[in-house]
Amino acid sequence: MEASKLKLTDEFMPAKINRDNLKKIYEGKAKILYEFSGEEDKKDLLLTYFKDDATAFNGQKKGTIVKKGEYNNAISSSLFKLLKNKGINSHFIEKISEREMLTYHLKMLPIEFIVRNIAAGSLAKKMGVEEGVKFLSPVVELCFKSDELGDPMINKTYLKAFDICDPANAAKAEDIALNINEILSKFFDDNNIIVVDFKLEFGLYKNEVMLADEITPDSMRLWDKQTMEKVDKDRFRRDLGKVEEAYQRIVEITSKY
Ligand code: CDP
Repeated sequence: MEASKLKLTDEFMPAKINRDNLKKIYEGKAKILYEFSGEEDKKDLLLTYFKDDATAFNGQKKGTIVKKGEYNNAISSSLFKLLKNKGINSHFIEKISEREMLTYHLKMLPIEFIVRNIAAGSLAKKMGVEEGVKFLSPVVELCFKSDELGDPMINKTYLKAFDICDPANAAKAEDIALNINEILSKFFDDNNIIVVDFKLEFGLYKNEVMLADEITPDSMRLWDKQTMEKVDKDRFRRDLGKVEEAYQRIVEITSKY
């Protein structure tokens, strides 16, 4: 059965989730992943729990953003639904509680796909352009996922050379990322926000390249269209204050989905 054709049944509803069977398989900086140990009908599923913890600069700055877990679960769920409506499959199945979503268990590509529309951060410095300059077309960067190495930027020739993943799957993911960029840029623009850049991760589900991870203000740079004020995790990274308010604004904008 193709993932896109899988249908939710009663079995996936919160009341039917037996918490005694949840087995933690991974804890990252912002999320915890659980599998449903011993439940044959849920062997392809995961439960994702969103934490309030916030880190920046490859873990050097640590803190918490009050209720971030709830905000990011709500935002990610809404954006995955929006994308689904536009024909883009993701691992998302259902938001099952304030901080939890049910997802498919994918075989992750160890790559971060960073899509950029506007110069910010390291790219502005690298290319010697002012922050805020709009590129003539979107830039896509591939980074090899490795905390140890600081997620180094790679290009397509590394994929085969270092046996990272099938280049054809990375190419598919890149196409989907650019499509997502168009959809999200339009959606946020309609809501007075500029999508500056963002990071996506993909995985394979039954051989289909599928969007995974999260889409939240943790993983995007979002600026107010009028004031250019940051409405994302840069408020935490750079101690700009009003961090929770920024996340709340994105929850409100996305809540119609
Ligand atoms: O732009 P700069 O190189 O300074 O930072 P970056 O870490 O490459 O971030 C570019 C965009 O990707 C931002 O929207 C980050 O929030 C996002 N990103 C992320 O969510 N997770 C990462 N591990 C790296 C980048």
